Amino acid sequence: MTQTEDKVQAAEDTPLVPIEKIVSLCKRRGFVYPNSEIYGGVSGIYDFGPLGVELRNNIRRYWWWSMVQTNDNVVGIEGNIITHPRVWEASGHVENFVDRLVDCKNCKRRFRLDHLPVENVEQNKCPECGGELTEPRLFNLMMETYIGVVEGERMKTYLRGEACQNIYLDYDNVLKSSRMQIPFGICQIGKAFRNEVTPGNFLFRQREFEQWDLQFFVHPSEMQKWFDYWKEFRFKWYEGIINHKDRLRFRAHAPDELAHYAKQAFDIEYRTVLGWQEWEGIHWRQDWDLSRHSEYSGHDLSYTDPETKERYIPWIVETSGGVDRTFLNLLLDAYEEEPPSGKDKEGRTVLRLHPWLAPVKVAVLPLQKNKEELVTTAKDIHNRLKRFMVAQYDDVANIGRRYRRQDEIGTPFCVTVDFQTLEDSTVTVRERDGMTQIRLPMNELPSYLLQRVTWNYV
Ligand code: GAP
Repeated sequence: MTQTEDKVQAAEDTPLVPIEKIVSLCKRRGFVYPNSEIYGGVSGIYDFGPLGVELRNNIRRYWWWSMVQTNDNVVGIEGNIITHPRVWEASGHVENFVDRLVDCKNCKRRFRLDHLPVENVEQNKCPECGGELTEPRLFNLMMETYIGVVEGERMKTYLRGEACQNIYLDYDNVLKSSRMQIPFGICQIGKAFRNEVTPGNFLFRQREFEQWDLQFFVHPSEMQKWFDYWKEFRFKWYEGIINHKDRLRFRAHAPDELAHYAKQAFDIEYRTVLGWQEWEGIHWRQDWDLSRHSEYSGHDLSYTDPETKERYIPWIVETSGGVDRTFLNLLLDAYEEEPPSGKDKEGRTVLRLHPWLAPVKVAVLPLQKNKEELVTTAKDIHNRLKRFMVAQYDDVANIGRRYRRQDEIGTPFCVTVDFQTLEDSTVTVRERDGMTQIRLPMNELPSYLLQRVTWNYV
């Protein structure tokens, strides 16, 4: 099936959320803003607002917890964006990290050759107007920069095109300083930069974005075992944080679409209005990286098994995903416009984000703003809760409007302080998805909420 057919089918099967709805919500409620907007913006670059940064932090922390903190054979690093330029020759990016572009001679639109439907490539025909396409031209995606200030002595290098390269550069240091033995993995979360020629679809394809990587180093004879292990692990990880589990699948790469470093690859794909699209790549990188860096640096990166004394270049299983694509997919997965119902006469927009990841965990609301005791009690509760989790205090507008405001940003719980609270120290806890309400003693609130909004609360 071509990408275009895929797109149409996706749209017909289930009501998928248009990206524009998410763009609008993100701007309106402070998740994402266009970068440098007052200067007209820069295509493919975005900033994150107060709620966006909370969501990103939660996504990152949860990944780190499940990949590094809870796996004894995995450690983390934080490498830098700028490295020695030879790194990118060794990695193959200077030579191979290219997009093939064609322009329509008639409507002047520009396309990535690998994004065109097969029939348009075969007939050399523009998918928009049917015009003739130019010969493909090659564009390298690496962003150049310079180290040093004196003209002539400055060294040209690159902003990293994939974050994982630092892991190979630090592999030997980690091995020697952390007493890890193969099989083991190194994780990192960090920015990557690509001069994408066709950035677009909001956060989906940007020029500056953030990746998370696991590079797992194994003996060649155990490659298949660990490849399968991490493939399943990562799939379940995504399944655990989305509502629409049927929109997640694996797709094997055909031989002609494999990246230059991969001998085998599977994408974990998620279905949105853009069709089935890559969310994370699981790559069989074999010995490509450590062999190339050994060759280009002259530093032997082979490993000697402490027991058998066998010497070999470790093979690598890579799981590489994007913080930004996770951010976008989670919003697309969680967004719902509910029509008016018995419980809610006006209808509402609700973000059904997993409570672990929701940017605000709880909102504390006095029933009325003009009753001092209600306000003071609500502020006390808020002050207590905000030490444990992101909590908001809100007393503006009627209670229904305030609930809806919180639903729209995905706050899983609202605590309402009413007149009964003043008598028996209980509060109403309203849950976002079912809009159910329970009464709870005030002093039980922290443990009740922590159990529900944190993944590691026992
Ligand atoms: N180290 C392997 C690697 O970089 P990739 O498939 O090019 O593989 C991994 O990228 C992940 O990074 C993708 O699955 C996607 O989530 C994210 N990603 C890649 N390019 C991106 C872009 N231009 N904008 C946003 N996210 C991107």
